[in-house]
Amino acid sequence: MRIDIVTIFPEFFGVLDVSLLGRARRESLLDLHVHDLRDWTHDRHRTVDDTPYGGGAGMVMRPEPWGEAFDALLGDDDADAVVVLPSPAGVRFTQPLARELAHERRLVFACGRYEGIDARVAQHVAGRARVMEISLGDYVLNGGEVASMAMIEAIGRLVPGVVGNPESLVEESHEAGLLEHPSYTKPQVWRGLEVPEVLRSGNHAAIASWRREQAVERTRRVRPDLLPPDLADTV
Ligand code: ADE
Repeated sequence: MRIDIVTIFPEFFGVLDVSLLGRARRESLLDLHVHDLRDWTHDRHRTVDDTPYGGGAGMVMRPEPWGEAFDALLGDDDADAVVVLPSPAGVRFTQPLARELAHERRLVFACGRYEGIDARVAQHVAGRARVMEISLGDYVLNGGEVASMAMIEAIGRLVPGVVGNPESLVEESHEAGLLEHPSYTKPQVWRGLEVPEVLRSGNHAAIASWRREQAVERTRRVRPDLLPPDLADTV
């Protein structure tokens, strides 16, 4: 998968060289490119923002550098590329959406700052690629960088080969519509707290059933909104 990121803070994305995504990048499973939006400005101050038409607080990102960035990054054969515009006004990012996006050939993340990007940019790019405004959650960040990083990590780890043991992707939170069960490792007793006996029993059916009960109980307690309807009214 190829991923391009356009930002005025390329240094934010240094972490892409670390850990699983760093290895995926070195092994060419993920072809990641970070671009500085200011490279597509032409004035001495490398200006990317201006005051909003209609008034109001804050600044809006001007369309010209974004237009040039997309001219440079999207070719005639990129109509299938997905341009992600991180925004608190977008559709919510979820595990199913991460799974969908993990199948794409090419993603371009356009990180807005300030009060966002001039709305004509999304309109214009929609004629050349698929555009999705996506929100990380119901809160406001200072810009799209942290949201893009979170999305790239969630999507990237679902690309085949990125996570060494694909089985570890199956049981985790949000995959079965439930939060994940608690996990334990050695030592058996730590500061007086013991690992639940069933996990040491070697009885795989009992372990699977205990884990499922724990997952259901945790989901009911913490995130009842996620509980599948068939479990919603069981005790
Ligand atoms: N930019 C600012 N806030 C955001 C959010 N919640 N999700 C995605 N991008 C954002």
